[in-house]
Amino acid sequence: MTPLDPVAADAAELRAAFGRFPSGIAALCAEVDGEKLGLVASSFSVGVSFDPPLVMFSVQNSSTTWPRLRQASRIGVSVLGRDHAAACRQLASRRGDRFRDLDIVRSRTGALLLHGSAVWMECEILSENPAGDHAIVLLAVKEMRVDREMEPLVYHGAEFRQLAVAS
Ligand SMILES: Cc1cc2nc3c(=O)[nH]c(=O)nc-3n(C[C@H](O)[C@H](O)[C@H](O)COP(=O)(O)O)c2cc1C
Repeated sequence: MTPLDPVAADAAELRAAFGRFPSGIAALCAEVDGEKLGLVASSFSVGVSFDPPLVMFSVQNSSTTWPRLRQASRIGVSVLGRDHAAACRQLASRRGDRFRDLDIVRSRTGALLLHGSAVWMECEILSENPAGDHAIVLLAVKEMRVDREMEPLVYHGAEFRQLAVAS
């Protein structure tokens, strides 16, 4: 094997490399002081711990939504379903109403959950740790529901994809 290159200072090359790793996408949403807040995260990851159940994601230090969203007593986490590509773009948009025409359920705690998702969770923030230009947020899962019939949306190479069985 030829030697590895030093890690590129080139941001585009780094994005291309990190983008080769396929992931699901989670929408993290809640109502705070009557305002619906949300963002999507492909850094979301499950199975950090099973007992207690912990999930995580990393949030950009530059996020303007997170400082407000983190004030929610419970954050709704929806693992986006295969038909959620447009909803995902909308929930990440910097302009306009992120929740326009989305089929959202509000729990009594203020967590917002998206219909058509593969998994729904209500989470509480356990910790936030600095990680370069992001912070790693550990979330404790307090309530959850799974739709085993709904396949998750997949994010890979800056494109949305659907699962296929490898032959
Ligand atoms: C597919 C996709 C994945 C994203 N993943 C992350 C992520 O893991 N962490 C993050 O902080 N922002 C992520 N974003 C960006 C946020 O969803 C959102 O666009 C950003 O937080 C908007 O800026 P604001 O927080 O200032 O409102 C992602 C956006 C897209 C479209």
